[in-house]
Amino acid sequence: MRDGPLAICYGTRPQVIKASMLIEASAQRWALVTVDTGQHYDYALNEVFYEQLGVRKPDHFLEVGSAAHAVQTAHVLTRAAAVFEEAKPRAVVVIGDTNSTLGCALAAVQMHIPMVHVEAGLRSNDRAMAEEINRRVVDSVADLLCAPSESASAQLELEHQWGTVENTGDIAHDVLKRNLSRAIAPADVEGWPLKAGEAFAIATLHRAELTGSAESLAAMMGALRALPLPVVLPAHPRVRDALAKLGIASGGMLHIMSPLGYFEMIGAIRDAAIVITDSGGVQREAYWMGTRCITIRTETEWHETVALGANTLVSPRRAGEELVPAVKRRLASGAAWDNGAYGAGDAAVRITDAIAAMELGV
Ligand code: UD1
Ligand code: UDP
Repeated sequence: MRDGPLAICYGTRPQVIKASMLIEASAQRWALVTVDTGQHYDYALNEVFYEQLGVRKPDHFLEVGSAAHAVQTAHVLTRAAAVFEEAKPRAVVVIGDTNSTLGCALAAVQMHIPMVHVEAGLRSNDRAMAEEINRRVVDSVADLLCAPSESASAQLELEHQWGTVENTGDIAHDVLKRNLSRAIAPADVEGWPLKAGEAFAIATLHRAELTGSAESLAAMMGALRALPLPVVLPAHPRVRDALAKLGIASGGMLHIMSPLGYFEMIGAIRDAAIVITDSGGVQREAYWMGTRCITIRTETEWHETVALGANTLVSPRRAGEELVPAVKRRLASGAAWDNGAYGAGDAAVRITDAIAAMELGV
């Protein structure tokens, strides 16, 4: 067993959110060193979550910022390695599939520090997706792989990964369970464009498939405007910038606004008639809260949500034609499904149990 603190690494919006519970559970067992890579740095994508979820200030802020994949990953790798050199952590925990995840994971394994991957075993089988490469690389060298579901854990067993596989459930569920009572109703959100009680769709978009294709994005926005209800789009900076280039702004029943805080966002998902998204986190939050969802992807890592009837896929390239009929069909269908596919919302404790067992070699 190694001495030293447990390092917890994160850097993007959903990772700060998930780290909130992981840090709390881990702090009860070990001294910690927390590392925010700074991949996301705007107040609305970073600090607001520290404030709302009570996340302690990071011990190290790596300030990597935005850059091409190779440059961003390289900055995370070298800066995380310098932190680990000094802190000598007993193990390094990484979350998800971002460039921050990959850089911190590689730094750890190159230094022979045990590495724990939270959200292991998800697959889209899409080689063109940076996240698919990141998660496969991290899974292949992790010492402990914490899978969010039965199917993710079965996938890892099938791939004969080196590390120990544990189905811990999804830590995003812990965060939602803990904070749902603090959700802010849409009408109480500053800048909310609709009247209290008015039905709406909530939309989030940030993936390259849409933001990188002017044609698909313009068709998608046309489809959002053609929906039979108002649409509120809290825009990630990536889609905000892509829309600005196309000259697309709010108008008619389409309302583009700044990104929301976590309490505002879960309130909006809870109260929406339907969610339209390409976000992994938003898909699951809709699934847990019983809100119908349309995912603008050709596949989803969270395929249980589709199989159980909570989620429908619409290809980003075909959204122009297919979104409106898909939304109409979904609005006419029921909104009750089994929402237990990703554990019971006790993943943080199960992950720390698994880390403790790894350290004892059991
Ligand atoms: C990243 C992750 C993605 C995750 C998402 C969560 C990778 C490859 N992608 O995507 O898996 O789902 O975070 O939100 O790691 N920007 C700002 N302010 C910020 C951050 C970014 O304006 O605080 C802009 C920059 O122009 C930047 C662009 O958004 O180039 C994209 O940011 P980046 O972190 O590279 O990718 P995301 O799309 O956020
Ligand atoms: N989220 C938020 N405000 C927003 C959009 C999303 O708080 O304006 C939250 C959302 O509730 C979920 C997480 O951010 O918890 C999802 O992050 P994102 O969509 O950026 O990334 P992904 O989950 O696709 O990796």
